[in-house]
Amino acid sequence: MKTMTLLPSFLLLNFLCICSAADPLGDYCNKGTSISGSGQVSANIDKLLDELVSKTSVSGYIATSYGEDPHKVYGLAQCRGDVSSKDCSTCIQDAAKQIRERCPDEADARIWYDYCFLRYNEENFIGKVDTGYGIFYYNVENVTDPESFNRELGALMDKIRSQAVLPKNEGLGKGKTTLSSFLTLYALVQCTRDLAPINCAQCLAIAIGNFPKFCDSRKGCRVLYSSCYVRYELYPFFFPLDSNNTHPDASIKTIVYP
Ligand SMILES: *[C@@H]1O[C@H](CO)[C@@H](O)[C@H](O)[C@H]1NC(C)=O
Ligand SMILES: *[C@@H]1O[C@H](CO)[C@@H](O)[C@H](O)[C@H]1NC(C)=O
Repeated sequence: MKTMTLLPSFLLLNFLCICSAADPLGDYCNKGTSISGSGQVSANIDKLLDELVSKTSVSGYIATSYGEDPHKVYGLAQCRGDVSSKDCSTCIQDAAKQIRERCPDEADARIWYDYCFLRYNEENFIGKVDTGYGIFYYNVENVTDPESFNRELGALMDKIRSQAVLPKNEGLGKGKTTLSSFLTLYALVQCTRDLAPINCAQCLAIAIGNFPKFCDSRKGCRVLYSSCYVRYELYPFFFPLDSNNTHPDASIKTIVYP
């Protein structure tokens, strides 16, 4: 089990997010895992990706492997539990294409979208909590009443975390809280489905434990790890959508750790 290491230096990317579900939120190409010496590993990754693309949308998740040692590769793909199988399928197709373009030479590669996540590695990572690499998105705007907001956010997070660890919910928890007559808080958490409930709880605890550091009093925030996803917003973002008026994310910043 890897533990999170927060390095003092970090990369701050500041950009205006013209967010579409088709754009990756981030990727990770582990530079220590070059495959340049092995055409067999590369071929196995291609076969693995074919399988992930063809099978993920059936149930929104697959963890599998392809090939024989020493060139075996393990893969996992998962969609957000609330998206349609059509959106899931599109997302995984994009992910499989983009990950090879972005990480052409790495055996350990990961890519995050809002609707899906995909990774592969020569090392067997299935069932293990991994919070070693994280991507944080936050809205630069702050809420006006941090104290009550944080209390309501904490309560909602507790509620949806406990949903996520129930086996029948397959790692997903989502919900909303009415803050005032014109303000509703929406939140969603999801673990990869290879995790046991206790590991899911651990990943979510680490992700939410970062709130004071990265999300403090922000109007919206996302934490993306390889084992879990946490997001809250003051507008509806998960399906079924509450209304047709989803706000564009006007100004979002990203921090990548380590
Ligand atoms: C939000 O709060 C942070 C931390 O207190 C501050 O640095 C930032 O400027 C605030 N953002 C806005 C848009 O006021
Ligand atoms: C929202 O969209 C649905 C389907 O596109 C439509 O039937 C409905 O009338 C819309 N609601 C509002 C409030 O515009």
